Formats: sequence, C-alpha cells, structure tokens
Amino acid sequence: MLPSDPIPAGPFLLRPPMESDAHVVARACDDPVTARFLPLMPSPYRLADAMFYLTEVVPAAWKAGGAEFAIADARDDLVGVVGLKPPDRLGNGEIGYWVAPWARARGVAAAAVRTITAWAFSRGVPRIEILANVENIGSQKVALASGYRNEGVLRGAELHRDGSRQDLVQFARLAGDQGDAIKPYLPFFPGGELSDGVVTLSPLTYADTADFFALAEDPEVTQYSVGASGPDLSAVEHRCRSALSWWLAGQRIELGVRDAPTGALAGHLQLTFVQAELGQAMIGYMLATRYRGRGIMTRAVRLLVDWVFQETGIGRLYASTDPDNLVSQRVLQRVGFTHEALVKGLFPGPDGTRLDDVQWSLVKPPPHADA
Ligand SMILES: CC(C)(COP(=O)(O)OP(=O)(O)OC[C@H]1O[C@@H](n2cnc3c(N)ncnc32)[C@H](O)[C@@H]1OP(=O)(O)O)[C@@H](O)C(=O)NCCC(=O)NCCS
Repeated sequence: MLPSDPIPAGPFLLRPPMESDAHVVARACDDPVTARFLPLMPSPYRLADAMFYLTEVVPAAWKAGGAEFAIADARDDLVGVVGLKPPDRLGNGEIGYWVAPWARARGVAAAAVRTITAWAFSRGVPRIEILANVENIGSQKVALASGYRNEGVLRGAELHRDGSRQDLVQFARLAGDQGDAIKPYLPFFPGGELSDGVVTLSPLTYADTADFFALAEDPEVTQYSVGASGPDLSAVEHRCRSALSWWLAGQRIELGVRDAPTGALAGHLQLTFVQAELGQAMIGYMLATRYRGRGIMTRAVRLLVDWVFQETGIGRLYASTDPDNLVSQRVLQRVGFTHEALVKGLFPGPDGTRLDDVQWSLVKPPPHADA
C-alpha cells in the first residue's frame, strides 16, 4: 500500500479524505460540469453518495495500490480530490481529479496534479496518464499546465449517461520528462472571440452542430469544397465537439463566422495544415448564400489574419481556390493575399478527374516594416 501521509502542494495540502468531508463532497459533486465530465459519478449526487465514496471507495483505492487524496486549503477545508489509480498490468498509473465549483480557476487542480505526479514518480511509477473528455477543455488545460503531453484521441472510449460513446484525449508524462508546463502553440482568442462589430469569430462547439450541418448541406456553399461528398451529421457533430481540443493541441482552428448583432452562424473559417516547424498554415472558408455580397468573409479573414500574425508563431498563410471561384479570389486579394501559381490537377475531382488549383499566400510583414 502507498503511504498516505499528507503532502504539501503549494498553498494546498494533499491529505486522505475523511468522513467529516462528506457534506462538502456532496455539495461539490452535485454539479452539472462534474456530472457532464465524470459520467461514472452518481448524478444527482447526494450525501449518501459522499458517505459511500468516503467509507468504501477511498479505502478500497488505497488497498488496491492506488491513492486518493483530498485537496485541502489553508483552513483544511476540502476544495477537491485527486487520485492515482492502482498500476495497470504494465505498471503505469492514471490520475483523475475534480475541484469544487467554488474553488475553480485558482490553480487548485494544476497544483494537485503536479504534486501527486512527482510523488508517484518518486515511488517508481514510470508513466502516468490523464484522460479527458474531448470537450473538457478545463481538464486538458490542467494536463498541459502539469507538463502532460497530448498523445492523441481514444475514439469513443467513454460511455456517457445518455448511452453515447465520446472521445477521450490522452495525455501522459514519463518519469524522465522534464515536466515543465506545456504552452499551446495556438493561444485561444482573448475573451473567446474576435469581433469588428459586424462579424464575430468564435470556435465551433457542439451547440453549432445543427447550424453547421445546414451550412454544409447547401450545395451552393460546398460547391468549391474539395472532397465534399455530401454532409454527414455524425462527422459534423464530431468536428464541432473536437474543435476546441484540436485548437488546444495546436492542430487546427475551426471557427464559426457569426453575424455580430444576432450571433447567427453565417459561415465557417478554418486555419488548418498548421506546420509549427515552418510557421505556416492554410486558411479555408465558406459562407451561407444569404450572407454573401456584404464583405462578411473579407472581414472574417482580416480578423483572423491580423490575430494570427500578432499572436502566433505563424508567419505565412496560404489558401487554395478553384480557378473559376473569382469571388473567393477577390476576398483573398482584398485581404492582401498574393496570387502565386496555378497548380495543374492538384485535387481529386469527381469521376476520377483531377482539379486545378489557384494558390495564394500572405507573408507576415517584417518587424521593421512600420518603423
Ligand atoms: C477540470 C477541473 C478539475 C479544473 O480545476 P481547476 O482547479 O479550476 O483548474 P486550474 O485552476 O488548476 O486550471 C489550470 C489551467 O486550466 C485552465 N482552466 C481550468 N478550467 C477551465 C475551463 N473550464 N475552461 C478553460 N480553461 C480552464 C485555467 O485557466 C488554467 O490555465 P492557465 O494555466 O492558462 O491559467 C475542474 O473544472 C473540475 O473539477 N471539473 C469537473 C470534473 C472534471 O472535469 N474532472 C477532470 C476529469 S478528466
């Protein structure tokens, strides 16, 4: 059995949970976010559930070779829980945690995870994983802040209360890793969105699924989309659920282009094929027919380009257009993209044909350009 002596964790203390924590545990766990992202926890969560956890689950976890710590604040009040599962058949560990709603966004989880990770490594655990629901951005940020590397997605690995299976993002740290906090290559927008008062850009989320599907269903909208083979609702849902996680992983940004006054989804703008090594990425977009002819996509691309060049390490953006798609080419020209080349037969077309592509690029002005 692992030792259960208290461990200092910055301003907090990791100590074994006690029966006297029951009321706080019950209040903390009866929370919609916890219910959403910890689907094995009872919901609603009652005092009896807390007592069962404290008198049965906690002792069993220690007995099986795992650890279950309360995260206590300076007054010894419980503000969360962090646990290490018993080693799996390969000797590896997995950490899980929750923080009371009233104690979130104060670094509680990150401090606890860092501490229990170092403690477990010092006891010979070679590798520790954290598994977070693909939409649980808070938990994914905790993993990165605690030096855990994103290793990919476990598809459909988590069973939910409604019977659906959802993706888990896997993070891990090895005992030999440096363990510094991992800074995402692509920061989130300040306040979650960019806006010029007419157009607002904000990440696609699950709530956009129906509107994004309607957009992708319009043949006029997808007329020039390469590889579009008709909309697939489950693919659209997957994309909307995954968008923020892809962003945090530095892979791609999937944005809703929204009518600023109403918030209605007018279109889609993406930053994709992000190559951190080269500091370059591709943009692509589509706009619902009823929003066309008002300069909306020009505004949207401008907002994104300005942010990319100011806030990220990307110094070159490129775009592809169909040779006949003069309107899209006009958007790029208005934002300042330069026509680069006509590439013959670049993309697969219908019935075994190949499609030509007109390519555009925009390079970040050198730092001394404004001086
Ligand atoms: C996920 C959870 C544990 C985070 O706890 P927390 O104490 O608020 O996290 P921290 O304050 O240590 O935050 C660490 C980082 O994550 C960010 N973060 C935390 N919650 C966030 C959220 N909901 N959205 C965006 N970022 C979030 C913090 O801003 C911080 O980032 P920074 O280092 O850039 O400032 C908490 O929200 C929770 O208990 N959720 C329900 C249960 C759960 O999801 N458990 C994990 C299952 S895998």
